[in-house]
Amino acid sequence: QAAKKIVIKEDKTLPQAKKIKIKDIANYIGKRVEVHGWVHRLRIQKGHAFIILRDGSGFLQCVLTGDLANAYQTLTLTVESSLAVFGTINKLPEGKSAPGGVEASVDYYRIIGLAPSGKDSFTNKIQEGTDPNLLLDRRHLALRGETLSAVMKVRAKALAAVRRFYQEEDLTEVTPPCMVQTQVEGGSTLFSMNYYGEKAYLTQSSQLYLETCLPALGDVFCIQESFRAEKSHTRRHLSEYTHIEAELPFITFEDLLDHIEKFVVHIVKYIMEDPVSGALVKKLNPGFVMPKEPFKRLQYVEALDWLNENGVLNEDGTPFKFGDDIQEAAERKMTDTIGVPILLIRFPVEIKSFYMKKCADDPRVTESVDLLMPTVGEIMGGSMRIDGKDELLKGFKREGIDPTNYYWFTDQRVYGTCPHGGYGLGSERLLAWLCNRFTVKDCSLYPRFMGRCTP
Ligand code: 4AD
Repeated sequence: QAAKKIVIKEDKTLPQAKKIKIKDIANYIGKRVEVHGWVHRLRIQKGHAFIILRDGSGFLQCVLTGDLANAYQTLTLTVESSLAVFGTINKLPEGKSAPGGVEASVDYYRIIGLAPSGKDSFTNKIQEGTDPNLLLDRRHLALRGETLSAVMKVRAKALAAVRRFYQEEDLTEVTPPCMVQTQVEGGSTLFSMNYYGEKAYLTQSSQLYLETCLPALGDVFCIQESFRAEKSHTRRHLSEYTHIEAELPFITFEDLLDHIEKFVVHIVKYIMEDPVSGALVKKLNPGFVMPKEPFKRLQYVEALDWLNENGVLNEDGTPFKFGDDIQEAAERKMTDTIGVPILLIRFPVEIKSFYMKKCADDPRVTESVDLLMPTVGEIMGGSMRIDGKDELLKGFKREGIDPTNYYWFTDQRVYGTCPHGGYGLGSERLLAWLCNRFTVKDCSLYPRFMGRCTP
């Protein structure tokens, strides 16, 4: 009853509050500020209310005392309500801890949107350890959690680091189409669609388009969604993922491998040097070890020897032999055991794509590379491309692809062909490795995989 009578009002005689973001709070010690955000955590005890406020830029402990703590508005406050909070920023007393080592002594606050209590409360909807499917249905709410939001912050910084590296190396960014009429990585994972009565697909990779840009723009890259109709559930396959791809003209296979090493080492360095993403990666993945150049290089045939010597069997329970695909489980076992990034090179022609260039010293294998990282396995795939038209047409034939729709791609070999190569990096796999996530689903904003296209 007493609580109902307390009316919360702003004292207009107080100094004018400056509206700020929580990330800047250290510059406002002793000052009165206005902060807008969501109630991340809430604890009311002994005449005090402690609110951890979250605004997307950081977390701030807000302390309410006296009438403010006892008011009805405060007693009925809920987690995830949005607030405007006014108060003075103080350094925390010795022995106390809160985000940033500061707290706001609140003198006034307004509720902007009260979140539900009871059975519809946020905590009821997002319980720790809830069925993963339910959490995916409620992804829009689950994203507010500390882990998922941290991964999304690292993701943003990772894409910025990629763009920074490419800018420093003078690659030009292009935006190829997502609706296409060609395949790149095999017909079995194509999503097809009706395009004004014609058959079209969602792109599996922008590689073919990047290749056409080389004579116009030189070194190029794109960061674009790729789509794969993967029909199984694994830790590292999505139906839609953010594909970072680059293509470089007039290089050798060695140049490509050197470039990949430099790229990975630099982007990780930029991510770790950034105060926000560096701290988040250390928190999510305390054991993270920075990759060092040069990476271990292992030929496909050497990998088969390693697997056979270490008793790792093929999926059908037999030892590995030349021509076998090294499946996810075996690949991860090898990578985890070796424990460092591996450039796995020179895969057989039959298990790789139609466009890959054969090695001059052994035409059974290709100038191809997968980058394998401990805990995830393959995060990147690349190769040198066939640069002669006739040989490319043989590749199409081998894979049973009708080259008609690829005229613009084969023309690349007619109008001034050149040796060239490139690669594709799956950003969710990069993040699963960096942030130590069990599955790539935790590294995508709204993951798509077989059986899920919502929300
Ligand atoms: O090895 P992939 O299929 O290679 C290509 O698409 C080339 N055309 C790229 C190029 O050379 N420009 O795919 C490249 C990377 C993989 O290493 C993996 O990280 C990621 O894309 N990837 C997937 N990520 C999530 N879900 C899937 N279903 C993925 N398929 C590939």
